[in-house]
Amino acid sequence: MRLKDKVTIITGAANGIGFAAAKRFAEEGAKVVLADVDQVQGKSSTKHLQAAGYETIFFPVDVAKRASVDKMVQQVLSVYGAVDVLVNNAGITKDAMLVKMTEEDFQKVLDVNITGVFHCTQAVTPHMIAKGRGKIINTSSVSGIYGNVGQTNYAAAKAAIVGMTKTWAKELGRKGINVNAVAPGFTETSMVAGVPDKVIQQLKAAVPMQRLGKPADIANAYLYLASDEADYVNGTVLHVDGGMMM
Ligand code: CAA
Ligand code: NAI
Repeated sequence: MRLKDKVTIITGAANGIGFAAAKRFAEEGAKVVLADVDQVQGKSSTKHLQAAGYETIFFPVDVAKRASVDKMVQQVLSVYGAVDVLVNNAGITKDAMLVKMTEEDFQKVLDVNITGVFHCTQAVTPHMIAKGRGKIINTSSVSGIYGNVGQTNYAAAKAAIVGMTKTWAKELGRKGINVNAVAPGFTETSMVAGVPDKVIQQLKAAVPMQRLGKPADIANAYLYLASDEADYVNGTVLHVDGGMMM
């Protein structure tokens, strides 16, 4: 088992990539906290994993709200006494062309996708520093690295993830904490469900592997970065996009 007894918080774990990661981490022996703003799906996804015999627990959180994040981390610490791994996976889109994007939608995406990652990381870091060990995994995107039509807000946020990841890798490496990011390509979750079919076909054609990513493809990258196998990997952005961008 690659993550035996590692207490892992995965934000946005009710659905999509986060849920696939929760399952994959639990299969490798982790004690997985599914943390999500969607309480109905979060509880149901957690029950599903518990029924399969995995050690999982659900805590509600809105990562954009500092008090909500602090409460969730305190709950995790009171139940498990540690946080070994944090996967900052929660994210949203509010796509529109630049000329049509409202300031509200610009800000909302930054609040969840940047400030949310700042809140969660700042909340767990003191405990990892005290332990002298920890793994933090952030989620960027092809959009943040190469830009994408209709995603001014999201691309800005996902580019910020790269800057924060490298900064934290420099600050926290000396404390025994690895900070890395995964940059997924377009992956089959509800997030891509609103993308026009014509665009999806163009995207597939642009991927050397000729398909979109599956949630498990991204979950396996998170798993590697969370495992002891990645003890000397720090400040990297692992592209998992079928070779779409190179
Ligand atoms: N590349 C180039 N041009 C594009 C384009 C693209 N990918 N998408 C749209 N355009 C062009 C259109 O052809 C159109 O051109 P004309 O004005 O010359 O006709 C113009 O941009 C406006 O497009 P729409 O008519 O679609 O404009 P709209 O206002 O109705 O919708 C939109 C705009 C909401 C951005 C819509 O095009 C859309 O949803 N696009 C997909 C956005 C996308 O890729 N989102 C990714 C979601 S998945 C995700 O975010 C995960 C991740 O990390 C990758
Ligand atoms: P998804 O929409 O299926 O899941 C996102 C989860 O985040 C949901 O469960 C949602 O409830 C939760 N969430 C949203 N706002 C939250 C908040 N304020 N607090 C807590 N939880 C919140 O999306 P998907 O595709 O699984 O995305 C996961 C991550 O991967 C996101 O960061 C996304 O930006 C990123 N990504 C996704 C790609 C894709 O093509 N699907 C490509 C590249 C990156």
